[in-house]
Amino acid sequence: MDQILVRGGVPLRGRVVVRGAKNSALPLMAAAIVSQEPCVLHNVPCLHDIFSMDKILSSMGMRIDFTGQSMTLDPTALNSSEASYELVRKMRASFFVLGALLARFGKAKVSLPGGCAIGERPVDIHLKGLASLGIEIRIEDGYVVAQGKLRGANVGLDFPSVGATENLMMAAAMADGVTRLNNVAREPEIVDLAEFLNAMGAQISGAGTDLITIVGVPELKGAVHEVIPDRIEAGTFLIAGLATRGDVTVAKANAGHLESFLDKLREMGATVEARGSDIRATAPNGLVAKDVSTQPYPGFPTDLQAQMMVLMCISQGTSVIRESVFENRFMQVAELRRMGADIDVQGSTAVVRGVSGLSGAPVMASDLRASAALVIAGLIASKGETRIARVYHIDRGYERIEERLASLGADIKRRRE
Ligand code: EPZ
Repeated sequence: MDQILVRGGVPLRGRVVVRGAKNSALPLMAAAIVSQEPCVLHNVPCLHDIFSMDKILSSMGMRIDFTGQSMTLDPTALNSSEASYELVRKMRASFFVLGALLARFGKAKVSLPGGCAIGERPVDIHLKGLASLGIEIRIEDGYVVAQGKLRGANVGLDFPSVGATENLMMAAAMADGVTRLNNVAREPEIVDLAEFLNAMGAQISGAGTDLITIVGVPELKGAVHEVIPDRIEAGTFLIAGLATRGDVTVAKANAGHLESFLDKLREMGATVEARGSDIRATAPNGLVAKDVSTQPYPGFPTDLQAQMMVLMCISQGTSVIRESVFENRFMQVAELRRMGADIDVQGSTAVVRGVSGLSGAPVMASDLRASAALVIAGLIASKGETRIARVYHIDRGYERIEERLASLGADIKRRRE
């Protein structure tokens, strides 16, 4: 398994282009299932999770050509409505094929996704919503076995789950009648999916608000769509620049997708400039620690919580970080403590006291965003070397992270094992 080696203390400077959003590209790929014709996605990131979704769809007969950052998905030879445990267990987002399979075939057999490092991650909201749309659901040998004729209904989500909103949008797009999804997720990735489905001929309105209305249509055509920029990757690089007292600009980003995050940086004393699709953040005089509470969009994103915690570790004062979206998303804390951070955790609350610096150490990646946080901690640690093991966690969500950080001046390399 590869390792990443970092020698910190170098201020990062320069410009890095943000890739397409992983958490948009994955449901967009699944949405191609409901089309009768080939679809094309541009600005698709080259990531392990994208390859995993490719494998799942290809196993069902989808023909996929992924060249550069463009992906053609041809669903005309789709011949299966089953997604096996062997493939789904590798990436829980595979579960997002369920709604699309039901829309196309009226039946589906998809493995229940296991839990993961950050929590049990049940799918009860997905299944309850599909049942409201007329689907019979059985759980057999760890699989969801679903079938039925989709009919429009009023569905209220117990929690604004991103994945459940996406699954239900794809199912309702071809249901008989009108569906109203209430208390839905409002993330930019939801809007991106609605735009893609509407380009195929769907009739979806309200995406980005907490009520989405969908008038079912009998058929969906091919479409061409550009994936939105990855707001979490943009935030990660901006934090890396601030953490090293550098001057980093992220290009091809969308500041409108990061308002609560950028407001928090300003509250901490950073200068944040958004010009067109560029965002630049600097804090030559250091930062003041502030409290953070993660929330569904448009609140502070849970996917930037671990990275933000590292920034708080070296800011002046004490911050309280509340993780309200997932039940176990402080996996980075134990490793950060080993690097000299001063953090106490009580349940879903972490109290972070700023320290003057961090020290390099051998650490273990655990989940995608906690691993990105450890890379940032390594970039800060001016004493010693940080060696991050199990780098595959990072490769799931960041394309060639060590090369792109090195282009900003970081002393970082990958050791292939
Ligand atoms: C999506 O996961 C993202 N993944 C996650 O990003 C992100 O952290 C999350 O949304 C929240 O923003 C993709 O889009 C591929 P949820 P998802 O359903 O859809 C509970 C990353 O790092 N819940 O909004 O699985 C659940 O347990 C990943 O890129 C239920 O209880 O998230 C969690 O506590 C990590 N029942 C909360 O809701 C359900 O049926 C939010 O989950 C569904 C969810």
